[in-house]
Amino acid sequence: MSTNNVSPNQRRNFLWVMVAGLASLLGVATAWPIFRFLSPTGGDDSSATVELARGQVPVGGAHFFQYRGRPAVILQPAQGNFVAFSAVCTHLGCVVAWQDDAAEFLCPCHGGRFASDGTVISGPPPKPLESLQVALNGDQIQVG
Ligand code: FES
Repeated sequence: MSTNNVSPNQRRNFLWVMVAGLASLLGVATAWPIFRFLSPTGGDDSSATVELARGQVPVGGAHFFQYRGRPAVILQPAQGNFVAFSAVCTHLGCVVAWQDDAAEFLCPCHGGRFASDGTVISGPPPKPLESLQVALNGDQIQVG
């Protein structure tokens, strides 16, 4: 008398269902980050304008912040003079870094360099960093 009452076909079907389920989970786990990376961020109007304190931006330095869900940066090249840009490289979308000593942006991905006015100095970026509107209001800076 056998205790094994599962046929080989039932075992094969069970294994097939398990493999298909695992493959589906693996596919979703792989595709989700790619989808999130490629999908544009939603137009969140609540963050259409960002307020910063003047003290957050050093003269000759940079301050990075989030603008509409994306990295942005504001500079104070001279006392009281502020400029803001998207910090997303116009080549393939890496986030640029500010180089204090050279007073320029460097993209860590492919070596693209941008001047403090956002224009391309060298490297593969096809166009300048996107400029953001800046308005001063007392000790506050409004970007956007
Ligand atoms: S992504 Fe910036 S240089 Fe390629």
